[in-house]
Amino acid sequence: MKHRLAMVGFGGMANWHYDLIQRIDDLEVAGIWDIKEERREYAREKGVHVYESMEDLLADESVDLVLAATPNDVHKEIAVRAMEAGKNVVSEKPVTLCSADLAVMREASERTGKFFTVHQNRRWDEDFLTVKNVLAQGKLGEVFRIESRVHGSRGIPGDWRQEPEHGGGMVLDWGVHLLDQALLLFPNEKLETVYATLTNVTNQLCDDGFTADLGFANGIHVLVEVGTSNFISLPRWYVLGADGSAVINDFGRDGKIICATGINEGDVVPVITAAGLTKTMAPRREDTIRTEEMPWADSDIRDFYKNVMAVIEGKEEPKIKLDEVARVMRLMEAIFESAETKQVVKFEA
Ligand SMILES: NC(=O)c1ccc[n+]([C@@H]2O[C@H](COP(=O)([O-])OP(=O)(O)OC[C@H]3O[C@@H](n4cnc5c(N)ncnc54)[C@H](O)[C@@H]3O)[C@@H](O)[C@H]2O)c1
Repeated sequence: MKHRLAMVGFGGMANWHYDLIQRIDDLEVAGIWDIKEERREYAREKGVHVYESMEDLLADESVDLVLAATPNDVHKEIAVRAMEAGKNVVSEKPVTLCSADLAVMREASERTGKFFTVHQNRRWDEDFLTVKNVLAQGKLGEVFRIESRVHGSRGIPGDWRQEPEHGGGMVLDWGVHLLDQALLLFPNEKLETVYATLTNVTNQLCDDGFTADLGFANGIHVLVEVGTSNFISLPRWYVLGADGSAVINDFGRDGKIICATGINEGDVVPVITAAGLTKTMAPRREDTIRTEEMPWADSDIRDFYKNVMAVIEGKEEPKIKLDEVARVMRLMEAIFESAETKQVVKFEA
């Protein structure tokens, strides 16, 4: 069955969707609507049909799927209108700005019977899937801490991402991806505690970075950090277990796993520093550690839309479930609350 998708908003991300969809069987772009003439003109030049208006787009009976790819504050209105017009909807992330708005969107989906999901595309990030493989392999022994970071050095990009009324800021922008991933590392564990700090280095109105310590019921702490004033980047992932450590440096295949061999080191040779000596922080002798192969994962982001089409056809369950999306939204709210009150928030304790 062929599906036809119309895009509302044709900025940077919609353009990415457009190019992706050219590589997906049974899915085609019917056209776009954007409030900016320059983006409509860009679409025409690209050979994409441009609707006269949002109403014109929604009236196209050949369209069964609408993508909301506007600034974050407009997703709700577009999604609700599209579902009421009989369309299934994919919203870009973050789904909207708060849990109350998400409830309105979910209610529209239930009322109209239309499928509604969110483009949490970074579930297909190969670095994230590799960390899941590392945990599943169990070679690190009992894992006690995971750190997940993205670092840039140009502040908040663009225009609306700098403005609270449009849902700007890094918690909603990158946080929504990293927090979604963090919750999926232990999908059946309660997240008991959240402690967060925000940064406002380049922007006083919206957070331009944050750290969040997530304390799970299994005792594992996950540190999530987004920074935009980091001229030296720390690794994308750092995973610590009782018997080994793993590091993944970036979004590609650059990383390593070091595990203890179990050979007793005997008498550790201390490191002499300028002001003293330490055995505790001395490096391992080579025969007491070994490098393990990283279980690199492969993914195909086209599977997102293939799943959307299969759900519409009644053949599959959604890969991105609205309960998961709602949990991430509550977590982002807990992060703002923790940063505001300077307190640990009891989340699902
Ligand atoms: N999933 C990802 O990896 C990813 C990456 C980047 C952006 N995004 C998301 O995609 C969305 C768009 O981001 P972007 O980077 O493309 O922004 P952008 O500013 O490049 O594009 C947004 C477009 O929406 C248009 N627009 C605004 N209000 C509109 C309305 N009411 N009706 C129709 N068009 C309207 C603007 O004119 C603009 O062309 C955001 O929600 C963002 O968070 C997701």
